[in-house]
Amino acid sequence: MSILIKNGRVITAEQDYYADIYISKDKITTIGNELKIDADKVIDAKNKYVIPGGVDVHTHLDMPFGGTTSSDDFESGTRAAAFGGTTCLIDFAIQAKGTRMRDALDIWWKKAQGKATIDYGLHMIITDLPDAHLEDMSDMVREGVTSFKLFMAYPGVLMVDDATIFKAMKHTAKTGALVCMHAENGNVIDAIVQQALAEGKKAPIYHALTRPTTAEGEAVNRAIALSEMAGAPVYIVHLSSNDALEKVAEARDKGLPAYAETCPQYLFLSLDDMNKPGFEDAKVVFTPPLREKWHQDKLWAGLQKNTLQVVSTDHCPFCFKEQKELGKDDFTKIPNGGPGIEHRLQLLFDGGVNEKRISLNRWVELSSAAPAKMFGLYPKKGTIAVGSDADVVIWDPKFEHTLSVHSHHMHVDYSMFEGRKIKGNAETVISRGEVIVEKSKFSGTSGRGNFIKRNTYAGAWG
Ligand code: URP
Ligand code: ZN
Ligand code: ZN
Repeated sequence: MSILIKNGRVITAEQDYYADIYISKDKITTIGNELKIDADKVIDAKNKYVIPGGVDVHTHLDMPFGGTTSSDDFESGTRAAAFGGTTCLIDFAIQAKGTRMRDALDIWWKKAQGKATIDYGLHMIITDLPDAHLEDMSDMVREGVTSFKLFMAYPGVLMVDDATIFKAMKHTAKTGALVCMHAENGNVIDAIVQQALAEGKKAPIYHALTRPTTAEGEAVNRAIALSEMAGAPVYIVHLSSNDALEKVAEARDKGLPAYAETCPQYLFLSLDDMNKPGFEDAKVVFTPPLREKWHQDKLWAGLQKNTLQVVSTDHCPFCFKEQKELGKDDFTKIPNGGPGIEHRLQLLFDGGVNEKRISLNRWVELSSAAPAKMFGLYPKKGTIAVGSDADVVIWDPKFEHTLSVHSHHMHVDYSMFEGRKIKGNAETVISRGEVIVEKSKFSGTSGRGNFIKRNTYAGAWG
């Protein structure tokens, strides 16, 4: 199969130019002006942007959590991602306490096999790291699982102590892998939560009110200090507040390899959105929680100044009916997470580029190039270049649509962004040389997505 994309405006993290692009089999093979090469399919991209497919490095598909399982599996989740212009994602395998990382890897490979419609990688969540099993981390790196997530929150479930984090970081300092931190002070939050419950405060809003921004700032500071002592880089996931942002900025000013991502929910939603009647606020119960609105401007400034390098989704959907409802009488029982895998590029384009907060190049950098570099996928993914995988999106900057549960493709019964009007959308999505979305129709097949063995963290590039 060959595809010729004509007359498009090509946008990468660094460049912005008009060219034709020729795709042969699964790779971009020629870029030039007025190419005259026979192709099985010709796409006219006049007045459209031609961008590298989005890379979402934080998703939870088919994930057991809070007594239930996230409602998108690798089939529905990757399909929804493709509709939004994302052609590669990195999901999280979870090592169950007392088991080996390889067991978790096998479980997550099985979840994805025969289902994934786009390429995917895996991070490994470490819940348990006895010295005798430290070499499991090297084993994972050999398998292309070159990043590890550790939790400073969720005591008794996923949280590990500082010594474990330090040990893991010391190991990544040797292998070149990357530790990703869920940074919130879990023990202090737990004490605040217990007090709230004792006072009868059980509504969803108390999930947010019992997780102060200071608890995030403190944990980010500690994670960075641990990484400095270990001589390893650190990547803070789902950063939500100015307190945390300031700690990352301080570390980067000192020249430390500290990196961080934020997610659309923190850029576009705030505590003001937790005012719905009844139990509705459970739809935006995730961790870290929504913050006061003023944090949003700080996060946008962080994206502008490169204090934040990546926008991911932390897509972790649970249906309102029967799943979120598990916490109807007690906010601590609401499964944490929200759906967003489909809307990352759209929201960042509309709220970022259209609102003149970021440039077109920065949009591509935050959503594709930088995550690909950070997680060892570049230049296979994350750019438009000869030799790169033909993961290409034709983006219509003028297409107007409204985000809604009635039109999205995620397997979840509500939208976090219901009614939000957006200008800009993926018109055609090509994954490894195959058109998988065209004019709102999906033409990919389940199981066509490949597991990608990733390289290690690329070094202090950002
Ligand atoms: O609420 C969230 N974020 N759920 C997913 C698990 C995590 O901490 O990333
Ligand atoms: Zn997390
Ligand atoms: Zn997450």
